[in-house]
Amino acid sequence: MRLDPFVGAYLTDPAQVWRRLLADPERVHHDPDLGLWLISRHADVRRALGDTEAFGNALTLAPIYDVCPDAMGILAQLDAPPTTAAADPPVHPRTRRALRATFANTAERVEHRYGAIVQRRVDELVSRLVAHSGGRADLVGAFTAELPLLVLLDILGVPKGDIGRVRAWGDGQIALIWGRPDPAEQVRLARGLLEFWHYCQRLVRARLDGARRGEDYVSQLLAYRDGDDGVLTTAEVSSIVFNLLVAGHETTAGLLAHALDQALSSPGRWRELGEDPRRIPAFLTEALRFAPAIDGWLRVTRRSVTMGGVTVPAGARCLLLIGAANRDPAVFACPEQFDPHRPDADAHLSFGYGPHFCIGAALARLEARVALTRLAQAIPGLRLAAGHHRSYKVNAAFRAHRSLPVVIDAVASSDGPATPVAS
Ligand code: HEM
Repeated sequence: MRLDPFVGAYLTDPAQVWRRLLADPERVHHDPDLGLWLISRHADVRRALGDTEAFGNALTLAPIYDVCPDAMGILAQLDAPPTTAAADPPVHPRTRRALRATFANTAERVEHRYGAIVQRRVDELVSRLVAHSGGRADLVGAFTAELPLLVLLDILGVPKGDIGRVRAWGDGQIALIWGRPDPAEQVRLARGLLEFWHYCQRLVRARLDGARRGEDYVSQLLAYRDGDDGVLTTAEVSSIVFNLLVAGHETTAGLLAHALDQALSSPGRWRELGEDPRRIPAFLTEALRFAPAIDGWLRVTRRSVTMGGVTVPAGARCLLLIGAANRDPAVFACPEQFDPHRPDADAHLSFGYGPHFCIGAALARLEARVALTRLAQAIPGLRLAAGHHRSYKVNAAFRAHRSLPVVIDAVASSDGPATPVAS
C-alpha cells in the first residue's frame, strides 16, 4: 500500500488516506516508494512510540529519501550528538533527565516560569491584528507561525534580530528531512542546517565565556551541567538547543493553525469559545486529536517485530501515522467528527507516548489556550476569508497549513462569524 504523502489527497485531506489504511485488514503496510513501513492503528503506533527495546530513535531525524552525494557531503560535517528525539538508551535517559530538570513541563511550572512571556507575546500579536480591523490577514504569517518562535527565543535567550534566520533554518530542516527537495534544494538546505548547528554552538559558547550568562534556558542548562561531561557535554547542550529551536516552534505553530481552523470553520464555534473560555482546554485537546501538528513520525526497528501477523524486519524504518491512530475507530467513537465534548480525546498520541513523550506539551497547551482566549475576546468577528481551501505544506511528518486567510472584524455578528471551509 502506498501513502503518496507528497501529492494528491494527502496534501488537502490526509484523513481520506488514513481511513483507507485503517479499513484494510492488513495492519502494517510496506510502502515501496518511500521504503518505509506504515503503522496506523492506535495500539500499534502507541506500542512503537513507547517500546524503546524494539523501536529505536536513531534515524528519527535522518532524511526519508536517499540524499544526493553533494548534500550528503555537507551533512557528514554535522557533528551534533543525538540528545532527545534522535537518541536511544543509554544516552536518552541521561539527556531526558537534563530536560526534565531544566525545562518546565507541567501546567503549574509552565504557567509560573513562562506564563508572563506567553501573555506578553500574545498581547503584542493580537494588538497588531486588531490594528488592522476591517482588513484581511494571513493568520499563519501574522500569528500562528510567529507566536511560538517569539516565545521560544525569549525562553532560550536568543536575540530577536535572529528570528528570520532561525525560522528559515527550522523550516529548512523540516523540508530536508521529511519533504521531497530536489538535489539542488537538498544542498541549499543541508548548508542551512550546518549553519544553524554552528549558530547554536556559538550561542552556547557565548554563555560559557561568561559574556551572556543570565536567567535564560541556555544558561540554566549550563548551570545544570556544572562543568561535568558525565551529566551533559557542551556539545550536548548545543544539540539540545538545536533541537528545541525546531521542536518547540513548528509544532506549536501547527497546533495553533489547526485549532483556529477548526474554531473558525464551524458556525457558532468561535462565538462560543469567546463567550465561555473555560471550553478552550477541551476544545484544544480535541484539536490535537483531530488534526495533529505531527501526523507521521519515525522509528527504526532494533530487531524484527511482529504486529497483527506482519513481521517487520530488523533495521526497518517505520512511519508511525499518529494522525491515523488518532482516528482509529477501535478507540474513538465517530472518529471523523470533531467533537470538543468527546470524553476520551486525551487518548490521542499527538505528543507521543512513553519515554520520548513531548517535553513541551504543557508549554504548547499554555500558548494555545492564552492565544485562543485573547483572540476570541479581542476579535469576536474573526472569520475565514470566503472561498479559502485548506492546503498543507509538502511533508510526511509535519502537517502545516500553507495559509489561513481571515477577515479581521472586531465586532461579532449576531449569528456567529464562522465561514465553512471548502476542502
Ligand atoms: C503542539 C505542539 C507539539 C507537538 C504536536 C509535539 C509533538 C511531539 C512528539 C510527537 C514528540 C515525540 C517524539 C518521539 O517519540 O520520538 C515530541 C517530543 C519532543 N518535543 Fe514536542 N511537540 C510539541 C511542542 C513542543 C514544544 C513547545 C517543545 C519545546 C519547547 C517541544 C519539545 C520536544 C522535545 C525536546 C521532544 C523530545 C523528547 C524526547 O525525545 O525525550 N515540543 N513532541
